[in-house]
Amino acid sequence: MKKILLLIFVTQFMVGQTINSPNNKHVLSFWLSDEGTPTYDLKFAKTSVILPSKMGFKLKDQPSFEKGFTIVKVESSKVNETWKPVLGEVSEIRNNYSELKIYLSEKKEKERKIILTFRLFDEGVGFRYEFPEQDNLKHFVVSDELTEFNLTGDHKAYYIPGDFDTNEYSHTTSNLSEVNALVGRRTGEIFPNWNLAENIVQTPVMMKTKNGLYVNIFEAALINYPALNLEINKKNFSTKAILVPDAEGNKAYLQTPAKTPWRTILVSDDARELLSSKMILNLNEPSKIENTSWIKPMKYIGIWWGMHVGTMSWNYSDVGNVSLKTTDWKSLKPNGKHGATTENTKRYIDFAAKHGFDGVLVEGWNVGWEDWFGKWKEDVFDFVTPYPDFDVKELQKYAKEKGVEIIMHHETSASVSNYERRIDAAFKFMNENGYNAVKTGYVGRIIPRGEYHDGQWMVNHYVRVAEKAAEHKIMINPHEPVRPTGLHRTYPNWLANEAARGNEFNAWSEGNPPEHETILPFTRFLGGPMDYTPGIFEIKMDFYEKGRTNQVHTTLAKQLALYVTIYSPFQMAADLPENYNRYLDAFQFIKDVPVDWDDTKILEAEPGDFITIARKGKNSENWFLGSITDENKRETTIALNFLDVDKKYKATIYKDGADADWEKNPKSYLIEEKTVSSKDKLKLKLAPGGGVAISFIVN
Ligand code: NOJ
Ligand code: CA
Repeated sequence: MKKILLLIFVTQFMVGQTINSPNNKHVLSFWLSDEGTPTYDLKFAKTSVILPSKMGFKLKDQPSFEKGFTIVKVESSKVNETWKPVLGEVSEIRNNYSELKIYLSEKKEKERKIILTFRLFDEGVGFRYEFPEQDNLKHFVVSDELTEFNLTGDHKAYYIPGDFDTNEYSHTTSNLSEVNALVGRRTGEIFPNWNLAENIVQTPVMMKTKNGLYVNIFEAALINYPALNLEINKKNFSTKAILVPDAEGNKAYLQTPAKTPWRTILVSDDARELLSSKMILNLNEPSKIENTSWIKPMKYIGIWWGMHVGTMSWNYSDVGNVSLKTTDWKSLKPNGKHGATTENTKRYIDFAAKHGFDGVLVEGWNVGWEDWFGKWKEDVFDFVTPYPDFDVKELQKYAKEKGVEIIMHHETSASVSNYERRIDAAFKFMNENGYNAVKTGYVGRIIPRGEYHDGQWMVNHYVRVAEKAAEHKIMINPHEPVRPTGLHRTYPNWLANEAARGNEFNAWSEGNPPEHETILPFTRFLGGPMDYTPGIFEIKMDFYEKGRTNQVHTTLAKQLALYVTIYSPFQMAADLPENYNRYLDAFQFIKDVPVDWDDTKILEAEPGDFITIARKGKNSENWFLGSITDENKRETTIALNFLDVDKKYKATIYKDGADADWEKNPKSYLIEEKTVSSKDKLKLKLAPGGGVAISFIVN
């Protein structure tokens, strides 16, 4: 049911404005300072959350846009409606907010105009700048955004280093007065990365005040604008926007009418409310794709982990130094490790068909991998030429017979100009050969040289790819893109993103600490689904090679729990089929768990410590629960009152063994079955770095 109540008040010459959230908990005030600078503050339950903070811009080659304003007009309105996401954590979303729109004009000189829109939701605030069409502002360049978020005290913060090119970091936790983003920077591990100042962090930045308020600063609907970092003043806890620049140091090239993304502040005294909030999605535009019937969730396996653990290669031969223009690929000597062979792909298709997976990702199917990495080379891949041992037509036929989709892989090696030149041919190739989803990738330094992964030009590129993919009825899953900001509402074919430090880091680096997956829901996941690639059962990499110390920093049971705590409609079972074959009882949970949901209950949450979530499958009566902890063991009792009162369920509990420990004994797990109802409570025991996964199947 859709209900919109729209009230508009037009007020002339008002000085200060106040607006409340529908539940009256959040109160935002707006005023012009004596100098005519737009200023706001925010209270939650009468407690100050954001102290007076300025808004505005510095523009290139013209006076800055920060003072001398007068209020021309004020409008307020309310919206209360519901909408249905194509894929999601819940089947219906309420969009309920109060809006205040403030029309400003410069008093003197050029009388340039700007509109500020504030939306207050029960969970927080979104605000954005609009530059209406006007005579004295047409094309212009933003050289700095001056938005401040001045915090009230020395909050505990969870953050990753500010950067222009990557977000593949683990989090650092410290008070604001001790912020040191450089701690999280591991030189040489990620390429490329930046050495910004120690007090510049990426958004979303998660905070907790001494009084137990949870505060999160982020953005929504990032289009035609660079991503938002924050500079933190360690003495007075003021913070200011730092936008990702281009090679010239410019931030955004705009033409009126234009608008910025929403700046968002989520606030609650209950951490769970941040995770159930749909504010970021609500601040995005509805779907631009009218017919969405071809958009489907996908649980998939892939020729992938083998490359990360080193048993397979992307490249066909070991020659190195090849050229897309001149190499005769058939003449290359195979290295014997190539993963994407016809035979191996058939083996994966068989496994997918047997165990009910929708798709098989195949990386390394196309020529170019001999010489793809780290050279800032223009023509690396063409996205249409298979290696000699990968038979596209034969595999298309085979996959179709088995009812499995092959998932395309387009590693661009960050040569984005090359990708844009070839994308029509690449998507046409996909249509002709029966591929309906693509994992894209942007490893390396961006070409056009001087652009960054998170700058305005690339932000527009990711959107262009989503739009073009939609024209071809293709679903996308970019790796190494800018972090998502809810655009999957507008482009529901944008199933997932990487844009954070995924499970793969555990294969070849110092990995992700046990707390990692308990922080991500409060940071990166607020913007949208992540292709984290859970489900690793062979936790320790010395399984592949004696002496290797890399390992996944969880227990096996926690890998199962991640299928519930990490929402993604594009979700991988990342380990090798032969590894799953040795643990078929535990693998059953991955087979059973859905990736698209009718309902979600955040049962417990504390950033950096633990998360417990229950979800109900799409068009299903069955529920699934995932509970994870950080490096500390944990005991908790969960009331099953989310279950349907009239039903009995068979609960299958996949838990840590009594002696399990992420470091010492990660593969110790137990599976227990019970009949339960909504009146029952379950006591859960999680090992250090552990987890519990439960399926509740209606009896
Ligand atoms: C990095 C991606 O995150 C990973 O999943 C992929 O296998 C490699 N790039 C190669 O494209
Ligand atoms: Ca990556």
